Amino acid sequence: MERSVSQIWPIGGGKGGTGKSFFTGSLGFLLAKHGYKTLLIDVDLGAANLHTIVGVPNPPKSISDFINKRVGTLEETVVTTSLPNLFLISGAMNNLDVANLAHEQKMKVLRSVARLSYDYILLDLGAGTSFNTIDFFMISKTGIFVTTPEPTSIENIYRLIRSVYFRKIHQVLKTYDFRALADKAERRNPRATVSNPDLLLHVMGELDPEKGALLKQELGSFHFKLALNQQRKQDSQNIGVLICKIIEKHLALRMRHIGDVTFDDRVHNAICKRMPFLDLYPYTQTALDLRECCRNLLPAKETRLPLQGVAD
Ligand SMILES: Nc1ncnc2c1ncn2[C@@H]1O[C@H](COP(=O)(O)OP(=O)(O)OP(=O)(O)O)[C@@H](O)[C@H]1O
Ligand SMILES: [Mg+2]
Repeated sequence: MERSVSQIWPIGGGKGGTGKSFFTGSLGFLLAKHGYKTLLIDVDLGAANLHTIVGVPNPPKSISDFINKRVGTLEETVVTTSLPNLFLISGAMNNLDVANLAHEQKMKVLRSVARLSYDYILLDLGAGTSFNTIDFFMISKTGIFVTTPEPTSIENIYRLIRSVYFRKIHQVLKTYDFRALADKAERRNPRATVSNPDLLLHVMGELDPEKGALLKQELGSFHFKLALNQQRKQDSQNIGVLICKIIEKHLALRMRHIGDVTFDDRVHNAICKRMPFLDLYPYTQTALDLRECCRNLLPAKETRLPLQGVAD
């Protein structure tokens, strides 16, 4: 039987507390309401809390059961939520023995995630630029980055996106055996290393136009997205667009702003009640913003579908 290919969206942020888990949970909720079979995976292993945000206070199983070989497959750690199409692999665990995954364990998880069959798989990642986080971006051609409008958060998101992009360049160089050409390019122009992707592409294109074009095409296939969360009235309204422009200019990669999500104190209330915010407060500006982000992430033809059961 033919297996459907899941769309995998890693969701990260440079700084703690920007709203990655809130955004992941809300997006999963909306995709499920759209009728998509959606799986959320909490890979913030040291500080897992996505289960609380999606209203599963005590998940009976977690990803650590798979990592510690208590079950044979990742699929066995999936738990249901109150929405029929929404599933969760919790990162919650009783001990911290897998908070820092060894390389082989991480590869095993990544291979298993890639084999799962859902319409959408969203990965809630930990904060920062550690390899533990960045490696999870390697599973997909896309990545969603969540920042707040605060300069500290923006600084960190820039660093994270830069790290993820360089790691992707390394991955492409390895996969297509561009390494020899990259070394040649570096000898020709020592600045043309992977710390300057634009220049690297340019020099490689000069040395070998065919391979240069292939590399450009490969790198151009990555679609990065940015969501600005916790936007307050006093914040400038075009910060998200500006961040994307700066990233496109400095890193020569495609970065799309998918929306601004308004700050709302009721997010706190929903989390305290251990219930999805969109279930409790569907008619708020924040809910509207989240729906807009979801629409902007879906392919154009699908954005016309009504979101059943959710206020529009
Ligand atoms: N749009 C919002 N409006 C108001 N408060 C919000 C909003 N988004 C998130 N928050 C608040 O920010 C806190 C952190 O959110 P969340 O846990 O989703 O962040 P995170 O980036 O996943 O954090 P961590 O790095 O610790 O995993 C939440 O407790 C919530 O109260
Ligand atoms: Mg989180």
